[in-house]
Amino acid sequence: MAGNQRDGFSSKLGIIVATAGSALGLGNIYRFPCEAGANGGGAFLIVYLGIALLIGTPLMISEFVIGRRARSNPLGAFRRIEGRSRSPWSAVGYLGVVCAFLILAFYTTVAGWTLGYLGKAAAGHFSGQGLEQIQQQFADFTGHAWLPLVCQMAFLALTALVVVRGVKDGIERYSKILMPMLLAIMLVLCIKSLTLSGAAEGLRFFFWPDFSKINGQVLLSALGQSFFSLSIGMGALITYGSYIGRSDNMVSSAVSVTLADTLVAVLAGIIIFPAAFTFGIQPEAGASLAFTTLPMVFQQMAGGYAFCLLFFVLLVIATLTSTISLLEVIAATLTEELRMSRARAVVVGTLGTAVIGMVATLSLRPDSPLRLGGSTAFDLLDHLTALYLMPIGGLLIVLFVGWRMGRADVMDELSNGGTLPLGLRRGIVLVVRYLAPVAIAIIFVSQLVG
Ligand code: PFF
Repeated sequence: MAGNQRDGFSSKLGIIVATAGSALGLGNIYRFPCEAGANGGGAFLIVYLGIALLIGTPLMISEFVIGRRARSNPLGAFRRIEGRSRSPWSAVGYLGVVCAFLILAFYTTVAGWTLGYLGKAAAGHFSGQGLEQIQQQFADFTGHAWLPLVCQMAFLALTALVVVRGVKDGIERYSKILMPMLLAIMLVLCIKSLTLSGAAEGLRFFFWPDFSKINGQVLLSALGQSFFSLSIGMGALITYGSYIGRSDNMVSSAVSVTLADTLVAVLAGIIIFPAAFTFGIQPEAGASLAFTTLPMVFQQMAGGYAFCLLFFVLLVIATLTSTISLLEVIAATLTEELRMSRARAVVVGTLGTAVIGMVATLSLRPDSPLRLGGSTAFDLLDHLTALYLMPIGGLLIVLFVGWRMGRADVMDELSNGGTLPLGLRRGIVLVVRYLAPVAIAIIFVSQLVG
């Protein structure tokens, strides 16, 4: 296991920053408000927080344990830990890589929109526009014959350029500069949003839980959203875990990342809901929520042009650090499993994603035939990954770490060979063995039975 020359993170901050870079993205700023808006606001938030902290963190730690133990991509990781060339657990690795590929395909659709909107912001397209015009701009842009495709492909190419440079030179270096910028800009936007006339109503919607709204669907949506947002349940963090140094504290890194990710999602809610209630935009608006609410805020405030530009710069950056981690899963797998050069692996991964990604983007055009039972290919990919593949992958990962890997090996990883205190770490093992699998299974079944 040792001895193979793998790239790695150079410091603990590097892991936190790169993992947070993977976690923070459209999931927090675009998908979280969408899901919270569609699933009852405060009720969703409270379930989400519980799941992210109680299941999300232990699952993230479990992925780190597998990755660092095996020092391998998700496909090879299970085989290496099992110590044989064939193991049924490798299926979890396959599932993860396929999931990364499918997520990257539809994720780059929205990533492309962020690029397009950055261009619109720079060109001042939102100034002086009313709600209807801003809504029309969203419909026109996403329904345009080729613009969203060009933006999507540009975004993919940008991702490929970073990933081809490798972990330390590419991912770590960019993330370290970009992530703190992101938090700072979000805080400024939050303060702005809180001064709007609908702030109180928006905050009540977002923070006041109506427990009667909690049902199987809300639970599964919150589970899927937390997995999606934390980048867990599909091996991305097995890959990142494989780059973590032997003496780094994985537990505190995972806790820091979960807290940072949750903070950014909550900040996004505090920015978007007061604005939505101020301008009369439905919280259930779905895909258009972030892309109509925010330009409305900006164009009505002093210095709106600059803020709008800054925001879309931020969104592009946050999105890029996430697409990088998705492509890295595919690249690491192709280089290590099929012995491809890094450059070739990145090209193959990028071209494959481009094909499925195009289908996702084209399916959103109003006249598109790429729909199944009223759902677009985009929605199907989103639901398949977040509501099914990630929860199933997450369940299998906690079962593997909790029950299949030797307990001594797990404790050895968690405590860095016995050099870190065991107390809290024993608690984590209990959560991984019992609480996390039972909770995931219950949520899953409660939704399936209606
Ligand atoms: N966590 C990212 C977000 O919230 O935008 C999305 C994501 C990235 C999911 C990487 C999965 C992944 F492996």
